[in-house]
Amino acid sequence: MKIAVFAGDGIGPEVTREAVRVVEALNLPDLVMFEGDVGGVAYKRHGHPLPAETLAIARSCDAILFGAVGDPDCDQLDRHLRPEQAILGLRKELGLFANLRPAKVFAGLEDASALRPEVASKIDLLIVRELNGDVYFGEKGIRTLPDGRRQGWDVMSYAEDEVRRIAHVGFRAAMGRGKRLCSVDKANVLETSQVWRDVMIEVASEYPEVELSHMYVDNAAMQLVRNPGQFDVVVTGNLFGDILSDQASMCVGSIGLLASASLSDGKMGLYEPIHGSAPDIAGKGLANPMATILSAAMLLRHSLGLEAEAARIEAAVAKALADGIRGGDLGGNHGTAAIGDAVLERL
Ligand code: NAD
Ligand code: IPM
Ligand code: MN
Repeated sequence: MKIAVFAGDGIGPEVTREAVRVVEALNLPDLVMFEGDVGGVAYKRHGHPLPAETLAIARSCDAILFGAVGDPDCDQLDRHLRPEQAILGLRKELGLFANLRPAKVFAGLEDASALRPEVASKIDLLIVRELNGDVYFGEKGIRTLPDGRRQGWDVMSYAEDEVRRIAHVGFRAAMGRGKRLCSVDKANVLETSQVWRDVMIEVASEYPEVELSHMYVDNAAMQLVRNPGQFDVVVTGNLFGDILSDQASMCVGSIGLLASASLSDGKMGLYEPIHGSAPDIAGKGLANPMATILSAAMLLRHSLGLEAEAARIEAAVAKALADGIRGGDLGGNHGTAAIGDAVLERL
């Protein structure tokens, strides 16, 4: 079992360190970890955010544990050299098209939600976000119009096969949960979304047990704070899923809690917290590593088939939270390493 560990920028190395300690504590036989540079750190050392050596490490492994990329120093670089291209490049190169972002309130954390506790306590949802298409990967550019004005442009598109494969992921996920799938789009305005919705309806005929509904993204943003308990599985495109998942994180307490899995057709997966490099708190030992620790649990489950070990890690995190271990993001004063220690003790 080979895991690539790409810690990246900002708080990436801080939170990844704790997740690695947790995985190491399991003493799994035959597990080897390989480190690689990604993001701004890789640009500074190798001149590229996703160096060929890093990609080669990724391809030789069964799974990737990813911290975060993003560095304000690099925001003026040509887009293809910016740190974010590392994560976008890995998603594309490895065909990681299905992004699972579960959001559930941990017992005892109802009062940490940005929502009222009685609303928050009902949240148990899964966002299935398409990760290889949409406006993220369309043609784009900045041009000067004949009258001299600058114009930025990005093409949004989804081909039916791209929608179909993520639809199947959504329906299968719903079959394993509450059998309700809500497809979020903007079909009242966008042709991209019309194709999305049409294909969702076509695929639904293969899953007669799943109740499919459709919601416009603006309404979904509203419903997510009004009554998040109504959602079981949400399937949506790359851009809408990016935005709604950050919003979902605050509904369950903090962005420092939300883990994710980015899966391909095979076993290869990339696992990362949904948050970024948090330059505002980087280097201070303040970041909550729980999202990354929970991402490591998803790695064990989805790429290595180690369900029992994954569940042990999740239980240790839940116990730490129930015992009052909270980072600054949750109104507490436990630092990154102290949270890692607390999870390890309970493991
Ligand atoms: P961010 O998620 O990095 O931070 C948003 C806010 O949440 C900040 O106030 C930060 O301090 C806080 N926060 C985030 N993670 C936290 C944690 N684990 N514990 C405590 N607080 C936490 O988003 P941003 O500020 O918009 O972006 C910063 C950089 O990260 C940008 O360069 C962006 O492109 C990048 N980014 C990368 C990823 C990724 O690597 N997958 C994801 C999102 C953003
Ligand atoms: C995420 C991030 C990335 C995205 C950025 C860093 C490219 O926000 O993983 O949610 O937009 O997908
Ligand atoms: Mn995001």
